[in-house]
Amino acid sequence: MGRTRTVGSVILRLDTIPSTNGLASTLAASGCPDGTVVVAGMQTSGRGRLGRHWHSGCGGLWFSVVLRPRLSPRTAQVLTFLGAVAAARALKSLGVPVELKWPNDLVWRGRKMGGILTESVVSGGRMKYAVTGIGINVSGGSADLPAEIRGSAVTASSATGKPVEAGALLRRILSNMDALYSRLGGPGGPKALVEEWGVLAEGAGKRVVLQEGGRRWEGTVSGFGADGSLIMLTGKGEKKVFHSGDVTVLKKVP
Ligand code: BTN
Repeated sequence: MGRTRTVGSVILRLDTIPSTNGLASTLAASGCPDGTVVVAGMQTSGRGRLGRHWHSGCGGLWFSVVLRPRLSPRTAQVLTFLGAVAAARALKSLGVPVELKWPNDLVWRGRKMGGILTESVVSGGRMKYAVTGIGINVSGGSADLPAEIRGSAVTASSATGKPVEAGALLRRILSNMDALYSRLGGPGGPKALVEEWGVLAEGAGKRVVLQEGGRRWEGTVSGFGADGSLIMLTGKGEKKVFHSGDVTVLKKVP
């Protein structure tokens, strides 16, 4: 007999709410099933990484998944990778070949198409639950994006030049997430997921600048740790491991 589906076994759809991550966290705290999904047509207080605001008007795909994995709290970043791999494969299957940028971006030709935000709750040194939220700019053109992100963001429809249907995209992402999530619990699960993420990622082997908390490091990305960290070799030959930060890939000087 086949495995019962976890991710997407319960789906809650709402028109407008402050944040799907917010509602999913409330549901998770009150014991909703593993894999519960919250989808919204619009968010009024969409949350981005590092407390940033996430623009979430109509024309996007905004949803969150409650996950209850047996993972160490230190490996929560792997859940962001899970969302990123699932979304990148779904977008690719609809003709939108995105790249993944550490730690949480979906990028098309250097412009951000989407992002993933994982928020987890730890109790007694164990991950009690996590909420992985995914936001993707789907329809419309750059004129439909707010002025402040117009130059750096892109929609899936403008990348393909034809309409991309948010419902079809959601179904594919949830099905990919479900398959990846079932493998995550197996032996070597997190490591295998980081490897799958690495295949789709930009940056490995490249020179980058990483900025974190007002500090700046420059070096070559030597790889990604099994906990989702970025490993950099600095110009001084020092190995540095980062768990957060903003990365810019440096262009090669001819
Ligand atoms: C980022 O790139 O900073 C992460 C953005 C994550 C946005 C999504 S939209 C659905 C979910 N609900 C939120 O409030 N945030 C995430």
